[in-house]
Amino acid sequence: MNEISVIFVDQDGEAKKVIAKVGLSLLEVAHQNKINLEGACEGSLACSTCHVIVDKEFFDKLPAASEDEEDMLDLAFGLTHTSRLGCQIILDSSMDGITVKLPAATRNLMG
Ligand code: FES
Repeated sequence: MNEISVIFVDQDGEAKKVIAKVGLSLLEVAHQNKINLEGACEGSLACSTCHVIVDKEFFDKLPAASEDEEDMLDLAFGLTHTSRLGCQIILDSSMDGITVKLPAATRNLMG
């Protein structure tokens, strides 16, 4: 299987299902589909704006986060137990149907 489906759930709880090529990062897929996920450092693990909350069922299947990813995640606003950085999730065929939520707020803490 070269393509899988990925479901993004936005801040308003609206789900959008997209078809994604295996081998791309979740961040790349988000951008291809105009999903509002930032990715300020373009995947070089120097920001946390690509923070996503992964559905528990899929979170357990993902390869564990590297230490660098964990360090960056610590800085993410609204961190959860199933948070990951979207640029570090490389899609493979076992992830068909993966559901990720966009966190309610990233770094704009509004005064
Ligand atoms: S885009 Fe910066 S860490 Fe993912």
